[in-house]
Amino acid sequence: MYYPDELVEEVRSKNDIVDVVSRYVKLQKKGANYFGLCPFHNEKSGSFSVSPSKQMYYCFGCGEGGNVFTFLQKYENYSFPEAVKALADNAGVKLPEVEYSEEARRKESKRQKLLEMNKEAAKYFYYQLRNPQGEKGMEYFKGRKLTDETLNKWGLGYANKTSDDLVKYLRSKGYTDAMIQEGGLGSFDERYGMHDKFWNRVMFPIQDSNHRVIGFGGRVMGDGEPKYLNSPETPIFDKSRNLFGLNFARSSRKNQFILCEGYMDVITMHQAGFTQAVASLGTAFTSGQANLLRRYADEVLLAYDSDGAGTKAALRAIGILKEVGLTGKVLHFDPYKDPDEFIKNLGPEEFQKRIDEAENSFLFEIRMLQRDYDLKDPESKTKFYREVAKKLCGFPEEIERNTYIHALDEIYHMGYEDMRKLVVSYAAQTGFASPVTRPKSGIQKKTDPEENAKVVQRRLITYLNDNPALYQKVKKYITIDDFTEPLYKTVVEKMFPALESGSFVAASMISEFPDEEEQKEVAALFNTSIQQIGDQEEESRAFHDTIYEVKKNSYEVAKSQTGSDINALSKVLEGKRLLDELSKTRITLS
Ligand code: UTP
Ligand code: MN
Repeated sequence: MYYPDELVEEVRSKNDIVDVVSRYVKLQKKGANYFGLCPFHNEKSGSFSVSPSKQMYYCFGCGEGGNVFTFLQKYENYSFPEAVKALADNAGVKLPEVEYSEEARRKESKRQKLLEMNKEAAKYFYYQLRNPQGEKGMEYFKGRKLTDETLNKWGLGYANKTSDDLVKYLRSKGYTDAMIQEGGLGSFDERYGMHDKFWNRVMFPIQDSNHRVIGFGGRVMGDGEPKYLNSPETPIFDKSRNLFGLNFARSSRKNQFILCEGYMDVITMHQAGFTQAVASLGTAFTSGQANLLRRYADEVLLAYDSDGAGTKAALRAIGILKEVGLTGKVLHFDPYKDPDEFIKNLGPEEFQKRIDEAENSFLFEIRMLQRDYDLKDPESKTKFYREVAKKLCGFPEEIERNTYIHALDEIYHMGYEDMRKLVVSYAAQTGFASPVTRPKSGIQKKTDPEENAKVVQRRLITYLNDNPALYQKVKKYITIDDFTEPLYKTVVEKMFPALESGSFVAASMISEFPDEEEQKEVAALFNTSIQQIGDQEEESRAFHDTIYEVKKNSYEVAKSQTGSDINALSKVLEGKRLLDELSKTRITLS
């Protein structure tokens, strides 16, 4: 851990998990807990729970869980120290300058160094643009009608004609050639040695959603190939999980995004007041990006070029949006090719009108489909209707299908009743789409002894977490060594001493498990409650049986492993004695 444990704990306890999570997820109170749509997987019903008493969150759908720190790590892609820092700032806790341990340094340093280097490069390009050597770049941007304010907001820059000045600059800042290459800012060549990746281009820094520069796009000024050159994927630049402009668009408060293809489109839209615009990064739109968008808004307006390639990309994007539960709509900019040209020619008011008139994505799909058929030819027309009927079967709800049939009838005059019958007959053959169900994780029905042992150990931990006072009863019979499941043993190694001293706090323990998978499992462990199964009497028996089973399992494991080791033997005997005692006693819950 990079900060002292007490300090981490202070930060944790001063940030109420409900407050923190509510900034990202709409939560509703139900009983003692809060529920909402899980930000970590696609779902339509809220399986994501936040417990104010436990100060933890847990998703019953996908099994993600943890405390305030893990939430930010997962959501904001922060490292642990970054999450601590953000929450400390939030709560007004002062953190000391940390002394990084050797191991911690190694772990963090690569990413950190690459981020710093990219920031350094961005500053360098920024400075070049605003000085005499950047005159050509400035002229280019001015020609594209960008204001000084816009140039600054986006940190736009210029890579001049010299082909190794950035490499030299970065070296002077202490970065090695290997680092410069790994960060995609330079490459090595037999003939020219180390040289810059970007030169003689205007530069667009690409930022992640926390305003950190993770890569660049560079455009030629005028004609030339390639038009845009982009940073390659690096440890900090994942093109499928970032979007250009999201750092600003995520706080636009419009409950809507405009998704386009170009950096210039995004910048022009923001300059015209449409701060909900984002773009993919020179690659096709991915479901990772759709999931990012889903965290902040319900609707995505597609602003792709109206040409063949743009239409194809839009149709693909519609499918991806649908999969994650986002509503897609399609924007049209005719007679112009893209948002940038449209705004320059017709201005923001006209652009807003196009937003208001955005086309329903299903109707768009059908309209594109129709272009492949000749509606004057009866045979072709029938085929088209069949295809439409097939697509309508994709809506699981009848009311939605019928609404669409009405809408389509108004456009194509196919006859409401005829189409409805066609759809029903199609569905009879193939079935309607049923809502996607995800396999629930962590639910296993196994009855082998090992699995049983795991279940009872887990249940015992749950009892203690639910009601720490029970520890006084448990400790007479159960020791840490009775936990044969390695992870649970690690948990009780931390938990028992804390229970003994009366200082057990589940939420703070989560951070002591550095491995993400372990953290998830521990969070799950502390977020389950004992199901009430019957009256007081039966509840007590269940508790007693749990202790008995844990002891019995550990006794049997120990017995099978003992050879002639006296110590082990005496442990087995002690186990036997306690087991006998347990069968004669009744441990009650009260
Ligand atoms: P476009 O060719 O549509 O360009 O590429 P644009 O955005 O309209 O650019 P301007 O207005 O001519 O300056 C759309 C996006 O595709 C990626 C870039 O991300 C660009 O913003 N692209 C395009 C490349 O990565 N490389 C290229 O050579 C061209
Ligand atoms: Mn353009």
